[in-house]
Amino acid sequence: MNFLVLHGVNLNMFGHRDKKQYGTATFAQINTAIENLAMELGVGVEIFQSNHEGEMVERIHAALAENFSGILINAGAWTHYSYAIADALAILSVPIVEIHMSNVHAREDFRHKSVLSNVARGSIAGFGVESYLLGLRAAISLAS
Ligand code: DQA
Repeated sequence: MNFLVLHGVNLNMFGHRDKKQYGTATFAQINTAIENLAMELGVGVEIFQSNHEGEMVERIHAALAENFSGILINAGAWTHYSYAIADALAILSVPIVEIHMSNVHAREDFRHKSVLSNVARGSIAGFGVESYLLGLRAAISLAS
């Protein structure tokens, strides 16, 4: 089984962002943790990050012709307003797990709304790097 992990806008800056919300793990360390768990669980992961909405939409389109068993997405701020990313994800039929490092529900009002939630099977928020690891386990279980 292969899973696609999508990181949206500003997420390459983890490690330099608000440590109270996002902790100290760098983007590279987060990806290593995901890759290590994937290896341990015997699945493949491909990781993609972009700060450009159109590029992210095109990566999602390309996934239609690829053989992923599921998708993890932390869309960053796009989560809260990008109907373009929501529409692109809606084209796919594999399970989608929405991820957030911070507990978006305990933050500013604009973060309480996700326009991606109705295309995701579920969301995991507030556990820092562990959100991705729980998300990978959830995606594997949905695909099994
Ligand atoms: C985030 C939460 C979003 O509200 C924010 O815009 C981010 C990161 C998270 O991982 O907690 O960039 O998706």
